[in-house]
Amino acid sequence: MEIIISKDYDELSRTAAGIIRDQVTAKPNSVLGLATGGTPIGTYKELIRMHEKEGLDFSKVTTFNLDEYVGLEPTHEQSYHYFMHENLFNHINVNPENIHVPSGVASDFESYCRSYEEEIKGAGGIDLQLLGIGSDGHIAFNEPGTSLASRTHIETLDELTIKDNARFFDKPKDVPRFAITMGVGTILDVKAILLIANGEKKADVVATFIEGPITSQVTSSALQLHPCVTVVLDEPAASRLKRLDYYKWAYANKPKLAK
Ligand code: GLP
Repeated sequence: MEIIISKDYDELSRTAAGIIRDQVTAKPNSVLGLATGGTPIGTYKELIRMHEKEGLDFSKVTTFNLDEYVGLEPTHEQSYHYFMHENLFNHINVNPENIHVPSGVASDFESYCRSYEEEIKGAGGIDLQLLGIGSDGHIAFNEPGTSLASRTHIETLDELTIKDNARFFDKPKDVPRFAITMGVGTILDVKAILLIANGEKKADVVATFIEGPITSQVTSSALQLHPCVTVVLDEPAASRLKRLDYYKWAYANKPKLAK
């Protein structure tokens, strides 16, 4: 894992967007895996700026989102479909036909989950997957106890996740109890992963998934098995890493080593 520590959220967002820009520039028809939550909003703002001011071109890009609440129509303001359009898709030149956000209102979820996996495969697999992390260590909506080999499936949300995500809804009881999510195995199949986390609130879970054991109780810990993971943190989120100084040194000296 490569750990990059940014001084604050703005720098984190610029760094993360820069990694996505480099991917899209190197391969204009990249397949991007995208995430929701509060954390990526700054990254998406920066990508929009790069599109508007620097001509970053998304016209050949394909996107797959990680997850969606079960029961929310795409037009629902708290749906991830709505979130992605508001915060990114409506402001860049991605072809609407190339956008994939799992449906929260499929009539047969079992076959729908299989077809989502097939669509990812059909697109040639995901080149770069953006991830946030939940307070309980989840990636996408893979709650503690989910198999580390899981594929796209319906997940029962944990109480902590419901509590965390209640801030986006009028009342806590409005938060859906189920979600459709790419599995941990689906995520491990992508070519490269970019995980972002900010704030002191995430410091414990960040230290746990990077430096703790691999366990289905912290599904993000499975990323230790992936050969190409970049983690971008701000200082508060990185503050409980035992080997913080080592990560900083390694990153700062990387250009010298490459020479
Ligand atoms: C939700 C999403 C995750 C996201 C997490 C953290 O549970 N399913 O993909 O990483 O929230 O959200 P935030 O960035 O708001 O802390």
